[in-house]
Amino acid sequence: MTPRLCLIGGLILAALPAVAADSDVLQRAEDAMHRSFSTATEEEWRTRLAQDEVQALCSAHHNTPPPEIAERIVAQSRTNIRYPDDGKLLGNWKEGEKLASIGTGGHIGKIQPDRAGTRRGGNCYACHTMATKEVAAGNLGPTLTGYGKRLGSSPETVKFVYEKVWNAQAFLPCSHMPRFGANGWLTPEEIAHAVAFLLDPESPVNR
Ligand code: HEC
Repeated sequence: MTPRLCLIGGLILAALPAVAADSDVLQRAEDAMHRSFSTATEEEWRTRLAQDEVQALCSAHHNTPPPEIAERIVAQSRTNIRYPDDGKLLGNWKEGEKLASIGTGGHIGKIQPDRAGTRRGGNCYACHTMATKEVAAGNLGPTLTGYGKRLGSSPETVKFVYEKVWNAQAFLPCSHMPRFGANGWLTPEEIAHAVAFLLDPESPVNR
């Protein structure tokens, strides 16, 4: 074997245990997650505990996929964007404001499971500051206070914000933001309301 082949072989061998250890850690994390929701017995809950293709790719690449996989995630995320029937991507900011605060809907487990009629919201405040009067806001995502003042509301901007809320990964693969439209969490009309909450000059986000 030439020295160069030897070197390549050595590198592959050296990398193997690391790859195995990595998938072992991923599997253990996955198992721990399932165990912690062991009281989630309904079919819909079990389905939600399983990673979809994009989540699995992001986990396997520690949320920084190589360029070709990143492109695939973005392209795939763009394939199912739907818009409201009336074509209006800018809805009613007051409705959007409600949705941004509603943190219920979809709760699984035994602490506070959904009851019949629980309304699904966007829970945007869990991760973003928006209107300044709401002080209980998280910072996992960037601040969106004054978002419309900064971005304006040109048709291109409205479309971008709509599509971003529909599926954040249509722009940033492995984003930590939930894919509200793509997963059927919010309807197209509700997303348009959220867009208005962010961009309407009358919205408290911009005042
Ligand atoms: C679990 C946390 C989380 C929740 C809940 C969440 N987001 Fe996000 N959001 C993020 C993160 C993280 C980013 C930055 C990464 C990215 O751009 O995808 C982001 C980015 C954004 C951006 C792009 C900001 C920019 O840089 O221009 C918008 C707009 C946005 N979120 C709107 C919303 C709206 C509206 C809701 C509620 C319907 C929401 N987010 C709920 C985490 C979240």
